[in-house]
Amino acid sequence: MANPRHIAVLGSGYVGLTVAAGLAFMRHEVVCADIAESKVSELSSGVVSIVEDGLTELIREMAASGRLHFTCSNVEAVENAEFVFLCLPTPRARDGSPDLSATVAVAQEIAPHLASHSVVVNKSTVPLGTAHRVRDIVNRPDVEVVSNPEFLSEGSAVLDFLQPDRIVIGSDSRDTGYRVAELYGDPDEHHCIVTDTLSAELMKYASNAYLATRVTFINTMAELCEAVGADIRAVASGMGADQRIGSAFLDPGPGWGGSCFPKDTEALIRIGESAGCDVSLVETVVHANAHHTERIVEKVNDAVGGNLTHKVVGVWGLAFKAGTNDLRSSPALSILTSLQQRGAQIRAYDPTADGVLLGIDVVETMEEACAGADVLLVTTEWPEFSRADLSSVAKLMARRSIVDARNIINVEGAQRAGFDYVGVGIDARSPGAVVDSRSDSSPGYL
Ligand code: UGA
Repeated sequence: MANPRHIAVLGSGYVGLTVAAGLAFMRHEVVCADIAESKVSELSSGVVSIVEDGLTELIREMAASGRLHFTCSNVEAVENAEFVFLCLPTPRARDGSPDLSATVAVAQEIAPHLASHSVVVNKSTVPLGTAHRVRDIVNRPDVEVVSNPEFLSEGSAVLDFLQPDRIVIGSDSRDTGYRVAELYGDPDEHHCIVTDTLSAELMKYASNAYLATRVTFINTMAELCEAVGADIRAVASGMGADQRIGSAFLDPGPGWGGSCFPKDTEALIRIGESAGCDVSLVETVVHANAHHTERIVEKVNDAVGGNLTHKVVGVWGLAFKAGTNDLRSSPALSILTSLQQRGAQIRAYDPTADGVLLGIDVVETMEEACAGADVLLVTTEWPEFSRADLSSVAKLMARRSIVDARNIINVEGAQRAGFDYVGVGIDARSPGAVVDSRSDSSPGYL
């Protein structure tokens, strides 16, 4: 366990809240600040609007322990803090580069109030050189600024923070880097990488762009599977069994989205351009991703016979992935917008979204989404969708047709219930014996 320290966390989005609650769990005294008064008063009374496994419980537990407090004042938060974590939004500016205005404004605001010999720790995904830029804004010889990129994923944020694969700290001073590393416990017991600030900042973009590339690669292989009559489940299973490749991030789908991959791949392209490097590989990945999202629209169009006008599309899933209520850059929303533009009527269900959204009729149950539908489109991999009783669903629909953009529906089960099934990279004519392997650890028949 780490030596308890006084820590301020500025910003209470996904990252800020997880970092604040996680550091309090590690026995630090944490004050978490946000400029939105209503959010702070909600958080102070234990109300968390973000859907994130275990986060609400952890925040409540840490608040009850007296180690986690909330405030609207950045200045109040930093005055006694030995470490100040910046967890501020860096949205995409019009030119695709990250907008650093929140970070710059907060650095200017807190500079005169920072405790002597404190360390400012940047957690957000920021342009290269931001640690030095913040250091120049703070302009205090007794205060250091380091980069400590966060690698947590939405849906598993708490676990990712408490059990990270690695802790990366970019610092001009090795000693300061290790002071920050010690906040997470004994650096010898973690995979700590202490490096320079530019390398730490670039590592975050490189990791996200690489993961996005893997997903695009498997989506491209899925398209190829459809063209040649192979099955992506077998191909991905064989690829993933190679330890040099590994099985994570090889699930084909409707293209990647969310608040990070689209923003960070664009930012990496800008970084490459301004450094005079050929980053056309990343440009190709971004372009191919849009193609894979559009391919789902074509599958739905084909499923209803080639004309979407007045066709009812029942949709399961709006969030960009399961485990979150985040709709930012969700492929589901792009697909639904395209379908509407082509005349389809949408009726969508998501366990975490309700009401009317961008002109989409959002209903309260999976069954309501299917009532009278010409096709069922599955866009998010919520586990409850794969457990649905398809025989009952079939009775509600005008036509028995499923486009499964996540490959989570049991193909034989769907066919037994009378559905025409279309997945991504799956040959629905031979849904069963995809992988016949003798190894005990293999997935066997899929
Ligand atoms: C991503 C990274 O995974 C985190 O490490 C990083 O910290 C975070 O961005 C960030 O920069 O803050 P996240 O955006 O929460 O996390 O989502 P991912 O789980 O990475 O998924 C991204 C997209 O890829 C989603 O649309 C997801 O559905 C898609 N995906 C992922 C697939 O289509 N197939 C896969 O096999 C994996």
